[in-house]
Amino acid sequence: LNRVTTLPRGFVWGGATAAYQVEGATKADGKGKTMWDDYLEEQGRFSPDPASDFYHLYPTDIKLAQDYGLNAVRVSIAWTRIFPQGYGEPNEKGVAYYHRLFKECIDHGVTPYVSLHHFDSPKNLFDAGDWLNRKNIDHFVDYARFCFTEFTEVKNWFTVNELISLALSQYVAGNFPPNHHFDISSAIQAEHNELLAHARVVNLYKSLNLDGRIGLIHVLQPIYPITNTKENQHAADLYDAFINRFLLDGTFLGEYSDETMALINEILSKNDAHLDIQRDDMEILKAASTRNDYFGLNYYQSQFIQAYDGPSGNEFNGTGEKGTTSFSFHGVGQLVPKAGVPTTDWDWNIYPEGLYDILKRVAREYPNSHTIYITENGLGLKEEYNGEDIIQDDKRIDYIDQHVDAVLRARSEGVDVQGYFVWSLQDQFSWANGYNKRYGLFYVDFDTQKRHVKKSAQWFKALADTM
Ligand code: BG6
Repeated sequence: LNRVTTLPRGFVWGGATAAYQVEGATKADGKGKTMWDDYLEEQGRFSPDPASDFYHLYPTDIKLAQDYGLNAVRVSIAWTRIFPQGYGEPNEKGVAYYHRLFKECIDHGVTPYVSLHHFDSPKNLFDAGDWLNRKNIDHFVDYARFCFTEFTEVKNWFTVNELISLALSQYVAGNFPPNHHFDISSAIQAEHNELLAHARVVNLYKSLNLDGRIGLIHVLQPIYPITNTKENQHAADLYDAFINRFLLDGTFLGEYSDETMALINEILSKNDAHLDIQRDDMEILKAASTRNDYFGLNYYQSQFIQAYDGPSGNEFNGTGEKGTTSFSFHGVGQLVPKAGVPTTDWDWNIYPEGLYDILKRVAREYPNSHTIYITENGLGLKEEYNGEDIIQDDKRIDYIDQHVDAVLRARSEGVDVQGYFVWSLQDQFSWANGYNKRYGLFYVDFDTQKRHVKKSAQWFKALADTM
């Protein structure tokens, strides 16, 4: 333990949250429904209320952040608190809430980094096709314009969080509404359309000449061939194109390279799928590609893959029972465990080298990404507070320690990483896993809403003190 002994001066050292996962109060003060509300109610597995009740308890959490040495926090604005239907007249109470939240952050020296979209499309727009409907992009741009001109106290913006997670979870893995499985046309189209939404908002932001910075957040998953055969390497290249490269090209090159498109087209033709790129799309992407001020990189795990030509299928581990995950993508590959690589209870590979590798790659292949912030990284655990002793989350400390070490190693070799946000600030609602997968530095008793400091929070503070 304790590979990392000091942090660089001025490093951004924060905790991350997302509106729907922490706020609760999903029906309060005129908030409109997101794509999750009815879906979760119908499923009856878990409720998004009150989650961590951040809607009311944000002063408690921001104070904890300050007390434990965090100088930044990632939050997202719930689109449907501002525009309950996704568009129309702004909801004053929702607007007032975010002004209060941002003021609280700033007053406590905890800089807010704010996303406009974190998996929570308005129900109304979701029903009309979500990102697959280009009209919804217009509504997103209007919502962004409103936020930029209203919340001028915010200086650090992100457009969309984890475009690939949305596309994959909605249309491939089928564990986010609308639960489609291996609908490859929709997945690739969602990737492209989300990139367009991001690019249009960046172009708008720059035209407004505001005093602040903007970027987007990708979760990156390095893919390694399980053994070094030509076939396995090709599987890795295909899968990488689908989940990393297409999005990185679109964001930072403003075009999909020939090599990327050859791989994507191979996947599309094998799966009888297609992608619709319209006339002006690439100009929009091109214009935005040099205008990102920074890049938010989320990292949890890497993947190992072998060549595979059988049918597509997947089992998603939402229970914390090891060994229940499987993922086979027809014509692309099959994800497999790698001997010697430890996994979490949810079968996620713990592989800090992957973070180092991907940071080096992004810096090398995508210089337009400029400054990088690790905007999420952390470990989900089943934890229970006994009412007395501090939670000994050494596993989490070890995970964070190894990953921060990888970040600082890449940084010492010239990759411009300026910050690290742990996922998550406090325990919160996990989209597909409910409340038994805890990530927080601070334990939340979901019955009483009491917070309890974990050992990882103390570890986090000790490092903050070295800056
Ligand atoms: C990221 C998301 O994908 O991973 C978060 O941005 C999410 O919203 C986090 O909670 C962890 O995922 P999970 O499924 O373990 O909650």
